[in-house]
Amino acid sequence: MHIAIIGTGYVGLVAGTCFADSGNDVVCVDIDARKIAQLQAGEIPIYEPGLEELIRKNTRDQRLSFTTELAPAVARSQVVFIAVGTPEGESGEADLQYVLAAAEQVGRAMRQYTVVVDKSTVPVGTADKVREVLARVSEVEFDVVSNPEFLKEGAALDDFLKPDRVVIGAESERARKVMGQLYAPFVRTENPILYMDTRSAELTKYAANAMLATRISFMNDMAALCERVGADVDFVRKGMGADKRIGYPFLFPGVGYGGSCFPKDVKALVAKGRELGMELDLLRAVERTNERQKKLLVQKALKHFGSLEGRTFAVWGLAFKPKTDDMREAPSVEVIEGLLAKGAKVAAHDPVAERTARRVLGDRIRYTTVPYEALEGADALFVVTEWNEFRHPDFERMKALMKSPVIFDGRNIYDPARMRELGFTYMGLGRK
Ligand code: UDX
Repeated sequence: MHIAIIGTGYVGLVAGTCFADSGNDVVCVDIDARKIAQLQAGEIPIYEPGLEELIRKNTRDQRLSFTTELAPAVARSQVVFIAVGTPEGESGEADLQYVLAAAEQVGRAMRQYTVVVDKSTVPVGTADKVREVLARVSEVEFDVVSNPEFLKEGAALDDFLKPDRVVIGAESERARKVMGQLYAPFVRTENPILYMDTRSAELTKYAANAMLATRISFMNDMAALCERVGADVDFVRKGMGADKRIGYPFLFPGVGYGGSCFPKDVKALVAKGRELGMELDLLRAVERTNERQKKLLVQKALKHFGSLEGRTFAVWGLAFKPKTDDMREAPSVEVIEGLLAKGAKVAAHDPVAERTARRVLGDRIRYTTVPYEALEGADALFVVTEWNEFRHPDFERMKALMKSPVIFDGRNIYDPARMRELGFTYMGLGRK
């Protein structure tokens, strides 16, 4: 099939590459000429394991190309994906100006029956708006489909190539058939394509992310409760997860959820409810808990040290989660801003996110090329992102480098008993 993808952000780039890899002819379009030039040269603007290799392979085999020219890319395509950004608007709901502008350009450029797919996470009712725009400007037949993307950064290729499910909101059999053919290589019987109407598909994405965020805030509350009653959240987590109705994933307490999806989507859903005269109380509490959680490590440090003025702290992990360089809504920023505001100095290490972190934090902290360097003379270490390379460090070396062997573990990656034996003052979340 001939496919055009409008927008080469995370979602567009991964989708385009994976569709090309299953044999389709894909053109990725972006208005950012610098980004397109970079992609044409085989450099990718984001860090995502395996993506660069897959882009190179498919570009070399001429199934994947990049351009700033939207019209010719659309004219030759049977399916056009709109995967442009949906930043937070004033009310908290997603701002649709880029989606609707793209839709209008797509509508003018279509030259044959085209399936236009909303791939960006968009508020309920967006497919209808896109349909209106297309109806106004298009001279050919078309269908609008909502096909939300569920990929996780750091595991994006795997999630796309082996999805748990593919959600397709479509109002015509013709569109369902095209989408079914396109996704056939990625689904097996146990990983179904779920066909539904466009509004249900749009809401599914928000509901899934809000549910996952709810699990995280719930566990962060449980961790706080564990500390008060003298229980260990890690036992509680395992005891809960063993129940098949609950399951193990997304039950890890932490420094609060971040990233480009959860904070934005929860907020957008709350705003949607409000617009309809409905208070989504549960989700407001999820947000409140998350705000509190992002401040927790600094509060623990204040409690332990009294004052942080003039102290030096090491931070391990800056990205909002491992295997990505994404700093969007990263809890590390809140932790570091908190420490700096209390007069402390910070030295931080992240395996890949230094470049992106500099854009947010600038030169107000020191960045180190190896994790141990950040520990030199440190009053304490804050573990903020659970990169694998932090899981089994040389603890004796750490102790020798630090001024005092204190660890605030925002991801519970170490065993409290072992840390005590090794002579550390160790503070995790909700641990005994
Ligand atoms: C998420 C959804 O998982 C994905 O389906 C959707 O398409 C986009 O949003 P992503 O933002 O890449 O993906 O990150 P995810 O792995 O879901 O983690 C989100 C946040 O939750 C991170 O800050 C992570 O550290 C935190 N988290 C996750 C926890 O604090 N505890 C957990 O148990 C799991």
